Amino acid sequence: MTAAGWPGLLGRLRAYQESELLFAAAELDVFTHLAGESHTAGELAGMAGASERGMRMLLDALTATGLVIKQDGCYASRPEVSALLAAHSPENKLNAVRLIRHGCDQWRELAQCVRQGSGIKTGWFAHDAELNRSFIGAMHEIGFANATAIAAHFDFSSRQLLLDVGGGPASYSIAILRKYPHMRATVADLPLTLEASREYIARYDMQGRVNTAPVDLYADAAFDFGSGYDVMLVSNVLHMAGPEDNEAMIGKLAKHLDAGGMMIVHESFIDHAVPSVERAMFALHMLVATDEGRCYSYAEVSEWLAAAGLDDIHPVEGVFEQPSLLVASKP
Ligand SMILES: C[S@@+](CC[C@H](N)C(=O)[O-])C[C@H]1O[C@@H](n2cnc3c(N)ncnc32)[C@H](O)[C@@H]1O
Repeated sequence: MTAAGWPGLLGRLRAYQESELLFAAAELDVFTHLAGESHTAGELAGMAGASERGMRMLLDALTATGLVIKQDGCYASRPEVSALLAAHSPENKLNAVRLIRHGCDQWRELAQCVRQGSGIKTGWFAHDAELNRSFIGAMHEIGFANATAIAAHFDFSSRQLLLDVGGGPASYSIAILRKYPHMRATVADLPLTLEASREYIARYDMQGRVNTAPVDLYADAAFDFGSGYDVMLVSNVLHMAGPEDNEAMIGKLAKHLDAGGMMIVHESFIDHAVPSVERAMFALHMLVATDEGRCYSYAEVSEWLAAAGLDDIHPVEGVFEQPSLLVASKP
């Protein structure tokens, strides 16, 4: 939608209301209480410790948006919605809901972030244990399908040791090692994040095959996670930092890559010639959420890879809808 006039503009201005509806329903555990059961507004209000008036209005709005079904004065959740939003569902995305809600607080400061050219509440994932855990959980909820797609696309049958750089929940290590039982991996990340990484490594029974290595990729002058790596994956890390820091980080990483090894960069690449609303919004999210992060083009990241002494640098298309993969080799 470009020039939709006042009705279209009004719709955009009010779009936050549907987000807030979902955030409140998740906070009040509405979809958990409604999973496989139907209840009156009064019953749900009791379970959620809420007013009956407020709960009825919330449920009627959820019904209007199609997320809840109302029948004979009782409300029920659609199974596909409960699968995603009920706390006891193994596939729930509630960490992602919490992370996006946290993002709303950051976006509320957008104008000030534009004035100053950087985020205001940044870096919390390195020191706020609760937010970090939720952030890493969200990365897994959002990323495991992408990790599985990467494991399916690349042929790692001749590779032995993966370095999962800024690997967070280890989703990519887990997906790749599940497909290639002979491989081992190291997840290199900040110490606080690694506490969460180890939970995911244990959840997927990968303790014997996936190690963790504490590192600050940007502050550490050199890395001590050893050598022997014939694959490195830098997934969704570069957008969190500025260009100089990224170039230096890739230079340090390349020193630990074996000759003949490959480096895969998985990123939200941006192509200014082909504007994408999703990518433009993600880039803005990096403005509010980080000090210097943004989205980069293939050309920018290719320059850093070349400066690190890597060659055969090329994008890989077709795995994801948007530009997301750049690969390089160490001669
Ligand atoms: C957006 S998450 C990506 C996680 C995972 N690679 C993925 O693609 O889902 C970014 C990761 O980079 C890590 N990270 C951020 N700054 C870092 C730093 N200075 N040193 C090491 N890791 C860092 C975070 O802890 C987090 O795990």
